[in-house]
Amino acid sequence: MMVLIILSAVLMLAFQCAVSYVVDDFSKCSEFFLDSQSPHIPAVLEGGKSQNQNRYKIICQGANKVYTFATLYNTTSRIPVFSAYKYSGKGKFSRKVRKQHWKIEPQLQQNEQATNEDYSEENREKMNVNRGHLFPVCHAKDVTTAESTFILTNAVPQKVSFNNGSWAHMEQCTKQLMDKHCLDTNNKVSAYVLTGAVPGNNKLNNRVNIPSMMWMAFCCCDSKKNCFSKAHWAPNEDDENKNKIQMKSLKELQDYLKNTLGKELKLFNDKCLTDKSVKTNLPPMCKV
Ligand SMILES: *[C@@H]1O[C@H](CO)[C@@H](O)[C@H](O)[C@H]1NC(C)=O
Ligand SMILES: *[C@@H]1O[C@H](CO)[C@@H](O)[C@H](O)[C@H]1NC(C)=O
Repeated sequence: MMVLIILSAVLMLAFQCAVSYVVDDFSKCSEFFLDSQSPHIPAVLEGGKSQNQNRYKIICQGANKVYTFATLYNTTSRIPVFSAYKYSGKGKFSRKVRKQHWKIEPQLQQNEQATNEDYSEENREKMNVNRGHLFPVCHAKDVTTAESTFILTNAVPQKVSFNNGSWAHMEQCTKQLMDKHCLDTNNKVSAYVLTGAVPGNNKLNNRVNIPSMMWMAFCCCDSKKNCFSKAHWAPNEDDENKNKIQMKSLKELQDYLKNTLGKELKLFNDKCLTDKSVKTNLPPMCKV
């Protein structure tokens, strides 16, 4: 009995300090979605609610009781489906946030999520992967937000050279695009980003799915509903070519995901599909 009381006290403490919260729907952290609308993925996520509560967990991620982003997590593949966040320009914080311990989600059971054991050095080396952020540190607006991204529910096993190479380059490109084209009426950067992974056929430590591809899309709109959106995706494969990922339209990404997943999904409000940048003649790839 005593043991139970102590155990529940410890558990309660753990929950109080929890860095994130598994919730019923995305309404509790809807600020990370354009117009508070989360993606529509048939039979997975509809109206901000998980359509299979055992498999797909809705997580409002955060630190110090402040929500910093949102994640839809697949407990079967043990990787996120996507993370969603707001980008508000270059963060001013020191590089030392890089050295972080990766947390796990205290509200999910061990068998429902990836752990640091799965990502042990030995296991990582065997598959040539590391912990790839969906919401990347370089898109965070402050230290709290940056540190909160170091949670395994925001990570996938990503090929090391891809993570460091073309994917990192693409993250910088996306940043540049948003810094330049996503200014609000107060001249502040404001954009909504979604980053996701499509499960593949291999597993890390026989437990954690190694995604076959990863994608990122953003959209920002002015008060007249003129929107600017772009998308990128690439296979999760070894690649030393830093300039490989082509810039595509949101519609092209949605079509690609439809063909890959066999589901007609909707990532952002339809107004993002009418992309005002069509007129601005952007080069197909950025120079960083
Ligand atoms: C969740 O994971 C399972 C197992 O890998 C997979 O079949 C399913 O397609 C995944 N769901 C999504 C939306 O990626
Ligand atoms: C990838 O980047 C990380 C962090 O910047 C670095 O520690 C690691 O050595 C790099 N690995 C490769 C193979 O370039």
